[in-house]
Amino acid sequence: MACQAIKTFYGHIIYARDEKKLVEYKSGALGVDQSGRIYFCGSREDLDLEVKAGECRIEESFDLGEKLILPGFVDTHLHLPQFGQTGKYGKHLLGWLESFIFPEEAKFKDEKYAHKISEWFFEELLKNGTTTANIFTTIHKQACNAAFEVASKTGIKAVMGKVIMNRNCPDYLSEDSKDAIKHSVELMEKWHGHDNNRLLYAFIPRFAPSCTNDLLNQIGEQLKANPSVYMHTHVSESAAEVKWVQELFPEAKSYTDVYARAGLLGPKSVLAHAIHLNEHDYKAICDTDSALSHCPSSNFFLKSGAFAFATCEKKQIRFGLGSDIGAGPQMSMFQVMKDGFYIQPDLWIEPAKLFYRATLGGAKALNLHETTGSLEAGKDADFIIVNTERKSNIPANILQKEIDEILSSLIFLGDDRIVESTFVRGKCVFGASLLNSLVST
Ligand code: GUN
Ligand code: ZN
Repeated sequence: MACQAIKTFYGHIIYARDEKKLVEYKSGALGVDQSGRIYFCGSREDLDLEVKAGECRIEESFDLGEKLILPGFVDTHLHLPQFGQTGKYGKHLLGWLESFIFPEEAKFKDEKYAHKISEWFFEELLKNGTTTANIFTTIHKQACNAAFEVASKTGIKAVMGKVIMNRNCPDYLSEDSKDAIKHSVELMEKWHGHDNNRLLYAFIPRFAPSCTNDLLNQIGEQLKANPSVYMHTHVSESAAEVKWVQELFPEAKSYTDVYARAGLLGPKSVLAHAIHLNEHDYKAICDTDSALSHCPSSNFFLKSGAFAFATCEKKQIRFGLGSDIGAGPQMSMFQVMKDGFYIQPDLWIEPAKLFYRATLGGAKALNLHETTGSLEAGKDADFIIVNTERKSNIPANILQKEIDEILSSLIFLGDDRIVESTFVRGKCVFGASLLNSLVST
């Protein structure tokens, strides 16, 4: 094989290889090839051996000292148009949507506004260290297109789509079913698979109450014809919503069964929240290998309830964490992990498990684990540099401690301030220049 030319980052590397296994190299090296993929991740010594054996050649290297190199975060559920509506307190889900969310989403009819919010949104995601995200936009085709255009400039990995609604919403957000499908298909044809699969399309029925059975069935037909395309929606978030779905769809065995009957479930389907589930819901999820997005910060904020974390683990359901901006007040996945711990009344979730759910577990939920979520060779070099000194209440000697203690400090004390830089495909997309870490050759 030809000698690979690589760019190398030296630092303290941590990533999750699976639910239980963490990988750590205190004196680590991450080698990135010219296509932006990880060529090498391991100890500095082992990389030196490869260089000596002539297997690779280091063109440029950056010594980050004790700083951490972690995989970029995966946010499995959030709403771009709600970024300006975080922190609107005081109502449960259905009242909150009516009062704060629908009026804001109506503004995305204006493409310029949509573009401006999209720029702000993606810049903030990268600042927070999120390199992969599963995103709702609004019903407006042009607003969704603007979001894709901005995303494509940043290089972020995103699954996105326009929202679909034809009932139980204000008239100004209700669509004709034909248009809903036509516009979704046009966006899918334009963006699905764009830039070497960095951008992917999802059909997004907002939630069962906002779509007629006929429209859900039409989405099901599209998914059958386009099996690589995603389906992203909400399920069983609040008790009132579940009761409403029973009234609207009396023929269904459960909330999730509404989606199953329409052919919306499968390995490319992501259901956000999934709190108030019964055995029929679990069966539909497991039978179809659908994935869930657990959004603890949002569930706290709207007082929706607590996700059955241990049950989902036991049933081996694929699930990741989601910020659910704007019901979730912050994008930082450090804070979402922390809320994931706090929201469980009786469960002590280990830091390693939360870290897994915010990275590789999320990538598995989105079926993107072949290319992201950890720092194994062959994956895209999507990573962040974390500097714990940027937050004064993190103990100065934390990086010398055992890995569990390091992760615990990151989860309970971390936020966007400790993310020093963010890289996608080996390219810095947020943060200070690494020029002062450049090792002269
Ligand atoms: N269910 C239907 N729409 C929404 C939304 O915008 N946010 C949340 N959290 N739940 C929903
Ligand atoms: Zn949501």
